[in-house]
Parts: sequence; C-alpha cells; structure tokens
Amino acid sequence: MRKKIVAGNWKMNLSLTEGLELGAAIAGFVKNNPLDNLNGQPDVIMFTPSVYLVPVTEKVAGTPKLSTGAQNCHTELKGAYTGETSVKMIQSAGVINVLVGHSERRSYFGETNEVLAKKVEIALANGVTPMYCCGEVLDERNAGNHFDVVKEQIETGLFWLSEEEFAKTIIAYEPVWAIGTGVTASPEQAQEMHAYIRKLISEKYNPTVAENYTILYGGSCNAKNAAELFANKDVDGGLIGGASLQAEDFCKIIQSF
Ligand code: 13P
Repeated sequence: MRKKIVAGNWKMNLSLTEGLELGAAIAGFVKNNPLDNLNGQPDVIMFTPSVYLVPVTEKVAGTPKLSTGAQNCHTELKGAYTGETSVKMIQSAGVINVLVGHSERRSYFGETNEVLAKKVEIALANGVTPMYCCGEVLDERNAGNHFDVVKEQIETGLFWLSEEEFAKTIIAYEPVWAIGTGVTASPEQAQEMHAYIRKLISEKYNPTVAENYTILYGGSCNAKNAAELFANKDVDGGLIGGASLQAEDFCKIIQSF
C-alpha cells in the first residue's frame, strides 16, 4: 500500500532547546496516538537544521514511524567543501532522509536539476531516502507552463533512475507561489498536479510503481486546510514549513487523513 507521510521542514528556525522540545512533543504524540483509520498512522519526518540532527535524532530514537532528515546534502561524499554536509555524514549520524531540491535551495543557491540528480544519486547510494522537491513559480503557472516545468524537474532529477531505485524516492510537489505566502493551492490544483505526476511515473515506469509511489503536497499547508488537501486521492500527505514549528499544529496535521 502507498505510504502516507507528514513531514516538517523546520528550515532555519528554532534554538536547539526549542528543537528538542518540539521533537520530544511530536515523539510523545506519535507514541501515544496510534491512528486506527483506514490508512494507518502516517510516517512522520522532521527535517531539522543540520546542527540539530544528532541531538534531535537521539531524542526521538525508538519512536515507531518517526524519523529525522537533513534539509540538504552535498554532491560529494567528502573533501574540501567548507561549510557543507555530506550524505555520508548524515547517514553516519543515524539520519535516514534528505530533502533534495527545495525551492529555496534552487532559488537562493542556484541548484539546477542536473546538480539535484547527483544529490539523489549519492543519497540513494548511501542508503538515505531523497525527498525530491519540485514546483513552479507563479509566472510559470500564470503562463500555463506549470506542468512542463514540473515534468522537466522530475525527468532530469529522477527519471534516469532504475525502477528499483526510483521506488525508494519520494516527491514533494511544492508550488513556489504557495510557500510561506499563506496562499495554498486549492485541493483541485493540488490533485490535478499530483495526478499528472503519477501519470508521468506510470508512463516512465509502470502503473504499479505509480500506484505505490508517495507524492506529498507542500505550500501553506496547515492544521485548517490539511484535511481537504489530503482527502484527494493522489495527495499522500504533506511537507509542512511554518506549521511544523508548533507541536500542536503539526500534530493536528498528522491526524488529518
Ligand atoms: P510553508 O508551509 O511555510 O508554506 O512552507 C512549505 C515548505 O517550503 C516546506 O518545505
């Protein structure tokens, strides 16, 4: 069955004390509230700042269905890259997920689809699950190019993978115009793009891979609108920014299936 996921991207927020408190609160919630709905309890991932990965991972260790992730990794495993973090370091810290190609990495750090393909490759080669982010900016949507933009991002970033390797990845569709703006995609807009992405996967690989593949929505998703977004048949959960910084809001989102 297709995995449901609610992931929090803390971005560059919180002190270490606040991060540990948030991690502990989410772990406590996940342990004490098994959801016995049709889909089972979703997996929960916390993408923390890299400097908090070790203490937060240790704090929540042993919590079923809860894991941590890095927000980025380098394309190389080691070397003279001051300030960078390699996927080997991430993996050696007991961290099993990494975000690849968040729109903020693409726009502020110039990460191209080609560079991101290398990050996907190195993550998979080191046993870390890449969550690959894609999404169009407002001008592209207004011009009617949003499907082509997302297609190009996914084809270059992921579609060179074998079926077996591709099946280990996750896609997060995050329309850039919805990130941090309070303007969320409508449930119809989210479903339309998710269905399109699933169709691309089916055509590239096969219907079984597409059917079992997890596609998350991100962009101003919060405790109020999560349920109507997640109710769509091709939306398998969310990648949450601002609303993942408050335990109460984030836990409401976890319960939104
Ligand atoms: P917001 O939920 O704050 O819009 O951020 C979404 C996001 O970028 C998650 O990666």
